Amino acid sequence: MVRPAHTIRPKPEHEGKSSERRGFLRWILFAAAGGVAASMGVLVKLVVPQKTGGYIPTVKAGDILVYAEGVKKGKPVHLDDLQVGDSALTYPKGKEANYANIIRVIRAQPDAFQPPTRVDWTDRGIVAYSSLCTHLSCTVSWEKRTAITASIMICYCHNGLYDPLRGAKVVGGPPPRPVPQVPIKVDAEGKLIITGGFAGPVGPLL
Ligand code: FES
Repeated sequence: MVRPAHTIRPKPEHEGKSSERRGFLRWILFAAAGGVAASMGVLVKLVVPQKTGGYIPTVKAGDILVYAEGVKKGKPVHLDDLQVGDSALTYPKGKEANYANIIRVIRAQPDAFQPPTRVDWTDRGIVAYSSLCTHLSCTVSWEKRTAITASIMICYCHNGLYDPLRGAKVVGGPPPRPVPQVPIKVDAEGKLIITGGFAGPVGPLL
């Protein structure tokens, strides 16, 4: 039904202005809430440690590396066990339950390493890296070829390739970054000992 023209009350001017004011206030409140949320996000990032995909290694200086598999599982890895071109999958002794601690050691000629390998973190040609693939956290394997320069750290899940002589630089496949190096030394008995933590987060980042 059409309302007679005289019954349609024109909107008083002050009503229009107050609704504009309410809209403006709402906008201000939204903007303020957004600002607070953004600041809280920055604060949380500063206070809470960066997530590392849930993998929190507990490797520390003094840990003895032991075999993670094979007939020598649980036994310390000795320098003489490994010839140039060999590799072993290891854990710090007593910390096998934490997959974030898994470490691959490789033996090369001491002068074979190139940047960005931390040569001061190697000893007598032994270098150690996290063995947790940075793509989707499969275990990184070792493919020994005729020469150490041709051998490669490989993740068979999606053919991720890491160069062991160049700081585990990614040379193929989907891993987004190198597996981090961890410093080691050979003790007086020839055992491999960790001397510090990983160079960076292990496994995939969230
Ligand atoms: S999980 Fe290693 S390449 Fe995908």
